[in-house]
Amino acid sequence: MTRGQTPAAQAQRLRVQLDRANHRYYALDDPEISDEAYDALLDELRRLEAEHPDLVTPDSPTQRVGAAPVDRLQKVEHLQAMLSLPNVRAAEELRQWVARMRAHLAREGIEDPAIEYVVEPKVDGLAISLIYRDGVLDRGATRGDGRIGEDVTHNLRTIASIPHRIEGAPALLEVRGEVYMSLHDFTALNERRAQAGESTFMNPRNSAAGTIRQLDPKLAARRPLSFWAYQVGVTDGLTLDTHWEALAWLADHGFPVNGDVALKTSEDDVIAQCQSWEKRRGALDFEIDGAVVKVSDLGLQRRLGSVGRDPRWAVAWKFAPTTAVTKLEAIRWNVGRSGDLHPFAVLEPVRVGGVTIKLATLHNEEDLRRKDIRPGEDVIVLRAGDVIPQVVSPAPHVAEHRRRPPRPRPPARCPFCDTQTVKPEGVVFTRCPNRDCPERRWQLLTHFCSRGGMDIAGLGDKQVAMLQKRELVRTPADFYTLTEEQLLPLERFAESSVRNLLDAIEDSKRRPFDRVLFAVGIEEVGEVTAANLAVHFGDIDALLAAPAEAIAEVPGIGEKTAAVIREALDEEGMRALVAALRAHGLQFAHDGAGALDGPLAGKVLVLTGTLPELSREQATERIRAAGGRVSGSVSAKTDYLVAGDSPGSKLAKAQRLDVAVIGEAELLALLVSSAPG
Ligand code: IVH
Repeated sequence: MTRGQTPAAQAQRLRVQLDRANHRYYALDDPEISDEAYDALLDELRRLEAEHPDLVTPDSPTQRVGAAPVDRLQKVEHLQAMLSLPNVRAAEELRQWVARMRAHLAREGIEDPAIEYVVEPKVDGLAISLIYRDGVLDRGATRGDGRIGEDVTHNLRTIASIPHRIEGAPALLEVRGEVYMSLHDFTALNERRAQAGESTFMNPRNSAAGTIRQLDPKLAARRPLSFWAYQVGVTDGLTLDTHWEALAWLADHGFPVNGDVALKTSEDDVIAQCQSWEKRRGALDFEIDGAVVKVSDLGLQRRLGSVGRDPRWAVAWKFAPTTAVTKLEAIRWNVGRSGDLHPFAVLEPVRVGGVTIKLATLHNEEDLRRKDIRPGEDVIVLRAGDVIPQVVSPAPHVAEHRRRPPRPRPPARCPFCDTQTVKPEGVVFTRCPNRDCPERRWQLLTHFCSRGGMDIAGLGDKQVAMLQKRELVRTPADFYTLTEEQLLPLERFAESSVRNLLDAIEDSKRRPFDRVLFAVGIEEVGEVTAANLAVHFGDIDALLAAPAEAIAEVPGIGEKTAAVIREALDEEGMRALVAALRAHGLQFAHDGAGALDGPLAGKVLVLTGTLPELSREQATERIRAAGGRVSGSVSAKTDYLVAGDSPGSKLAKAQRLDVAVIGEAELLALLVSSAPG
């Protein structure tokens, strides 16, 4: 022990030294001491804390290896909503954004202001809010729905580039930024996992997101996450005039700020800067999916305000979707539950936009013919955002080949049951006509158990395949006759999981009528249509007896679809399935109780994008239970569009039609606020 120093003072001195070293290393990229010296200081502090456990503080650098696990992630309300960003995809759209801003300011009486813009990379990780009280990291949370996030402080403390303590801080300081995984850390982590026989992560974003929501911080500590600060949020005791100044303040106080953020004064310069990020994209050690442009003046930001969840003063310049060229190795065919053969592409593995692609979808034979892609040739593949990769066309140099390989054709025999395939007149799909085709049966069985259907936990794709192989199930009704004796001898069905599974199967009998209607796999009947059919007809007998014209009266169902549904309902197999499930006690009548006078009675809602908490099915169920109706498309009759992350074209349409756009939090509020009682 250093003479004259108490253990407490000594610990404090070590922490200051370690914090400074961290800052130099992570924020400034300019280390002051060697790794060995750093480790020696850390060891000394560890020893001291082991001898005097009462000296351990949550902000101690030793805690970066992970403190005790938490039971569950607590919900926390953000001090100020965490907004999202509207997108622009081209120079013209960026100019329109500026024009809209200027028009808004003019209405506010601010004519033709000089505007400075900050251009930053849009790092592909996840947004985090950090709260410092009196300079000490107090809490860190995920964005969640923008209003309510999850407390992930325990994991954030393990991230080396997030300061636990800052000097000269105001009483309250919120710092927002992105937690991400660098490409080299991601590759190394996946290599380690592969060697250890563990599953590998899809992409850096997924692995960062999966890590940050872990309950045990020791796990997070072993996965190398990084952080970039991009905004000062709520403060008490700190006044800043511009965002540019805020970034400088953050960098000065130990936060990592991307070194290439830039201040620009003209639209042209902003556009050039965004384009330059787009060019550099492939050369960076982290993934970016765009650039962010922000008005720097915080006074102007306040005057501009926000519309819904989007600020007027910032936009994301989204990059064009990523493409790559690779060899098309083969076209293979899947069989759907109604027998349709769907082509898909088997590719020589290639990295596109941060993930390795081996398979890509093709919609149908028509799609295959139109694209004129041929096995053995190079093709262009595209991955836009989170969507499933697609094959776009042959690679340009393919046209130079004098002799091209033959066009792929649908197989003459079903790849799964060897039955001769058929192609009915006027239909886009070649089909396997065999109702007993094991693949068709498997597709129906897994659809039946899926989350939108009977949602039977423990009956995933593999389990269903095994039960099918052992000939324990052939139709969905057979799930309800399974016994403990049949299941126990099966691999991977231990005693307790067999009991859980049988309970889950029993429990599924309580799923409402509309879920049953979806689960039995009637052609053209998705979740929304099933719900509408259930409400319209009330029970299965009315539906089974309804002529096609009556079915066409259901919202969202046209004449053609009604005819297909009618035909599907008349199939012998469908009748037998319904009868058997009914005998097992599944719900075949709509339980409309309360629905007509709930808080959303008479309201029409449309869902788009991924909601932070609720699945599509859960949201639909909650809305219906509150008397609302969920429709598949936005129209003037829509009351609310519930928009989550990556909303599709529905959002633009809703804005055009002036339909109210709400988030999950607002939806939940609507469900309870006007609830009776
Ligand atoms: S600013 C109103 N700046 O992009 C300001 N966001 O939809 C909103 N992101 O999930 C955020 N890099 O996590 C901002 N330099 C940056 C960013 C950034 C990435 C993410 C953010 C959020 C999404 C915004």
